[in-house]
Amino acid sequence: MSPAGRDAPAASVAAQAALPGFDARRFKAMERAGFNRIAARYADGAHLRAELATALLDAAALAPGQRVLDLASGPGLLAGEAARRVAPGGSVLATDIAEAMLAEGARRCGARADAPCFAAADAERLCLADACVDRVLAGLALFIFPHPEQALAEMHRVLAPGGRLALSVWGVREAVPLIHCAQDTIARLLPPPKVVRPSVFRFGEPAVLAAALAAAGFDDIDIRPCAFSCHFDTAEACWQAFLDLAGGAAEALGRLPQTTRDALQAAVADELEPHRCKDGRGGYLLPALTLVASARRRG
Ligand SMILES: C[S@@+](CC[C@H](N)C(=O)[O-])C[C@H]1O[C@@H](n2cnc3c(N)ncnc32)[C@H](O)[C@@H]1O
Repeated sequence: MSPAGRDAPAASVAAQAALPGFDARRFKAMERAGFNRIAARYADGAHLRAELATALLDAAALAPGQRVLDLASGPGLLAGEAARRVAPGGSVLATDIAEAMLAEGARRCGARADAPCFAAADAERLCLADACVDRVLAGLALFIFPHPEQALAEMHRVLAPGGRLALSVWGVREAVPLIHCAQDTIARLLPPPKVVRPSVFRFGEPAVLAAALAAAGFDDIDIRPCAFSCHFDTAEACWQAFLDLAGGAAEALGRLPQTTRDALQAAVADELEPHRCKDGRGGYLLPALTLVASARRRG
């Protein structure tokens, strides 16, 4: 049993790559299976992160006529809005490792004339020509890649000189109860994982993210916090929102017996107690800090 969803501590990126027992192929397969499993629910929950999506799209400074790659696009929510912003004359390619995410995106975009193209691709190895896009978007994805430096090198390679990357990552752990409450519950109830996972908070410090972008060759790096909160009526709804967001965790927990899953769902209420909503609505208000970065490939 490997309770994914429990992270290794957010150490330096280099230290993450050297996590003892880290199996990049197995980890990637788990993420892919998980995001395939949750595709429709992930898309349904996107409204919870609408502010973040807008901040990322604004940071990308999209304009009509641009060619855009939305990397690890999930159900193409950023891609769909980007397509509107680059019309007329622009184009958007939405790629992801999880085919069900892409199918969900294609279904939701329907027959829109400006709909993005959807294609399966591993962000660490893109089948795209050098310098073929003007913008790269990567929402809540960099920390998922086993080799983020490889993915950043690919983003840099496919961007035309002067082109821009805009991405978002989770902030530091303590600032994201939306995720860490569920992770703490998993750590409290389940044995330590056999396979350690890189932390989803590993780029949560602006200096770490800036260093990774600079190391990939980007300049004009701008990193801003984007904070938002999600309200849930019940602890069960908080737990479900975590499962609908975290592919690898959903996959690992989905393989556990139903009784264990029920116990986890019931136990999360303890971790959520400090986040009881105090404005009369009842339920829980969970803050989430993210970072939105934009950076340029030198001209
Ligand atoms: C948290 S979701 C983010 C989706 C979307 N970008 C957004 O902002 O809502 C992470 C996405 O990364 C995808 N993913 C994970 N590993 C990947 C890889 N190696 N290459 C491409 N996509 C990957 C997952 O399938 C999932 O759709």
